[in-house]
Amino acid sequence: MKTETSVHGLAASLHTARSAKKVIGFVPTMGNLHEGHLSLVREAKKICDVVVVSIFVNPTQFGPNEDFENYPRTLEQDSQLLVDVGCDIIFAPSVDQMYVKKPVITRIQVTELTEILCGASRPNHFDGVALIVTKLFNIVQPHYAFFGQKDFQQVAVVKQLVQDLNLNVEVIALPTVRAEDGLALSSRNVYLSVEQRAIAPLIYQSLLDAERTLHEGETLADVLAQTKERLQAAGFTIDYVEAFTPHLHFVQSTDKEFVLFVAVKLGTTRLIDNLYVKLIKD
Ligand code: PAF
Repeated sequence: MKTETSVHGLAASLHTARSAKKVIGFVPTMGNLHEGHLSLVREAKKICDVVVVSIFVNPTQFGPNEDFENYPRTLEQDSQLLVDVGCDIIFAPSVDQMYVKKPVITRIQVTELTEILCGASRPNHFDGVALIVTKLFNIVQPHYAFFGQKDFQQVAVVKQLVQDLNLNVEVIALPTVRAEDGLALSSRNVYLSVEQRAIAPLIYQSLLDAERTLHEGETLADVLAQTKERLQAAGFTIDYVEAFTPHLHFVQSTDKEFVLFVAVKLGTTRLIDNLYVKLIKD
C-alpha cells in the first residue's frame, strides 16, 4: 500500500493502473476510520482492481463553531487498518495541497436537497462537501465511489452533483454499519463520555420503534412527535426528527415509502441516523 500526499504523486501512482485500464475504486473519508469505512473498502475491493482511500479533514464543510480543529486525526492507525483490508493507495493531502488559494473562492452548490435536514442546521456544510468531493473525483478519476448510507443526505447530494456535472463516476451507497447495541458507527462517537455512549443506542432504538408503530397504523406526524419527546426525555438535544421520501421530497399522505431522519446532540456531540420505512409489502 502506498501513501500519497500530493496531487502529482497520486496522479503518478495511478498512471500505470489507468494505462492498463484497471478499474479504480474510491472511498473518500475524513479518517479516524471505523468498521463503516472499512466495509466500504471491502466492497470496493470486490469490484475494483485498485482502491484509493482519501483521508482529508475538509475545512470547507465545517461551520465556524464546529469541530474542525478537534476532529480526530489518526493517520497511523488508519493506515494499519487500510493495509489489513487491502487498500492500494491512501491519498492524505494537506489543506494547502487541496486548497492552494485561500480563502477558497470557488463554490459548488447543490440547491433544494440541501435546504432541509443537515443542510438547514449546518449552513454551507454541503457546499463544502460538494466542493471537496468534486475536487477529489477530478483528482482520483475513479470508476466507482463508495459512500455510507448513514449520511443519506450526503449521498443524495453527491449523486445529484455527479448527474448535473456529468461526472464520470458511479456512486455506490452501502448500508450503515452499527455497533452491537445499534449505534451507527461514526468517527464522532469517540467524543461521547461513558454515560453518553450508554444512552446513544436509543437513537436507533427509537427509529425501530417508530417504524413498528407506523406499521401498527399510527400517523407519521404522531410517530415523529413521540420519537422527539422520547429522545428529549432521555437527555438528547433535538436538531431534527423528520421524514422525507427517499428522493428527499416532502412526504404526502399517500406515500408508503419514506426515510425517518434523526439528528441530535449529546453534549456537544452531534449524531445522525436514519431508517428507510416501507409500509406496503412487495
Ligand atoms: O463523509 C465524509 O467523511 C465527508 O463528508 C467526505 C465525503 C469525505 C467529504 O469530506
